[in-house]
Amino acid sequence: MRLDNVILVGFMGAGKSVCGRLLARRLGRCFVETDDMITAAAGRSIPEIFREDGEARFRALEGEILEAIRLKSGDVIATGGGLPCREGRMQTLRELGTVVWLRGDLPELLERARRSGDRPMLLGRTPEEIAALYREREAYYGRAHLTVDTAGLSVDASVRRLLARLREAHVARV
Ligand code: S3P
Repeated sequence: MRLDNVILVGFMGAGKSVCGRLLARRLGRCFVETDDMITAAAGRSIPEIFREDGEARFRALEGEILEAIRLKSGDVIATGGGLPCREGRMQTLRELGTVVWLRGDLPELLERARRSGDRPMLLGRTPEEIAALYREREAYYGRAHLTVDTAGLSVDASVRRLLARLREAHVARV
């Protein structure tokens, strides 16, 4: 049986955290972020984990957190942008709830990601390399149950669209 979490996936800057928090409030549900779970478990910030142990270690921690998420039900869960992008990960997420891809325009996503804090995956990468990373990841995000386009939309409008899609899919009643 599919658990009734709502799981947000998408590239850095997609608004998974800010929209997720608001969505959870509107639905009267708890909100959790995989990045926060990793930070709490490791006792370090994400940039510190990348700097001290490297990306591979961070991806392994994401795998462990994915196992912990199996215990959740009824939550809104925002995932880190790279979490779904390995073999088998989207399948696992799909078993844990309704997976929603928050899809936006790459330049808009990057502007937002750069504005709101440390993103180790953007450091030292050329615009071409970032565009290539985005293209690679689209194949994974595209396996979500629902895709919500947020290009040009405010947070409020994005959440309204998200709620409407969840209602259509009979995932949300409010
Ligand atoms: C990452 C995205 C980040 C965070 C980490 C790696 C990625 O989360 O998990 O810096 O690989 O795209 P956001 O998507 O919330 O920025």
